[in-house]
Amino acid sequence: MIAMTAKEVGAAVEAELTAELGRLQAAGVEPGLAVVLVGDHPESETYVATKVRTARRLGIRSEDVRLPADISQAALEAELGRLNADPRVHGVLCQLPLPEHLNAARVAARINPLKDVDCFHPENFGLLAEGTPRFVPCTPAGILALLRHYRIVVAGRHVVMMGRSNIVGRPMSLLLSQKGWDATVTLCHTLTGNIAHYTSQADILIVAIGRAESVGREHVREGAVVIDVGVHRVVDPSRPRGYRICGDVRYDAVAPLSAAITPVPGGVGPLTVLMLMRNTLQAARLAAAGAQPGSLDMARGKGVK
Ligand code: GUN
Repeated sequence: MIAMTAKEVGAAVEAELTAELGRLQAAGVEPGLAVVLVGDHPESETYVATKVRTARRLGIRSEDVRLPADISQAALEAELGRLNADPRVHGVLCQLPLPEHLNAARVAARINPLKDVDCFHPENFGLLAEGTPRFVPCTPAGILALLRHYRIVVAGRHVVMMGRSNIVGRPMSLLLSQKGWDATVTLCHTLTGNIAHYTSQADILIVAIGRAESVGREHVREGAVVIDVGVHRVVDPSRPRGYRICGDVRYDAVAPLSAAITPVPGGVGPLTVLMLMRNTLQAARLAAAGAQPGSLDMARGKGVK
């Protein structure tokens, strides 16, 4: 069994980012990222802090925008409009989940598609679905980097994706079924009956269902590659902090069966953050090239890899 960790992959990605950042700076471009957090959701606070810290560590200018939990939809959209218009800001991300009274789809559509480093805007989601992405969403991009780095054969193999979110499952299933990756993809979700029937046929099982340690031996075929996107804090009085971090997969049960598996923490998560930085550099490149929203030709022909 191989543990597929972010460590090695991350080092290679960081080297790539540093080189690209150097090229952009030499051309007079100073990439900037704005991360918007509404309210004080504790897990989101941690994610946002990691994003801002990583950007600064790599030398990407970052803006940490904190907004009150009771902000109106109109005021939030006005703030996004300000960031859309700021030429020093190349990437804009609004951390999810948002408080209940806010509409996340309208927020996604309000972000300038050329600054949409999450790839949530309908224009970017459409380009992705067509196979000509302008940005690759961060978590799927991290998973692709892992598959590439560990030379996991994907073409012609059966990928079972558990979870159909717009952040992970849906875009991942689109990407892996496209030319270049060439997998046969099954997309399972909460209403899939007898889900183990499908997951146990997977050569590559990708789990993004948001339920702690809910995937076990019964879901996995011997020799499968298992990628766990879940991150959960579970109470554990035996730990100094009173909790431990785990994924959607019962690692100890599944690891001995699998050919390769990602641990939690230290698997997909850290790569997601690096892919956000990669998208920010991509956004800065688009701005420097004078791209306009709707100028879809700029995105064409780039391919998925
Ligand atoms: N919340 C959990 N994952 C993500 C993500 O990738 N982007 C944003 N904006 N919010 C998230």
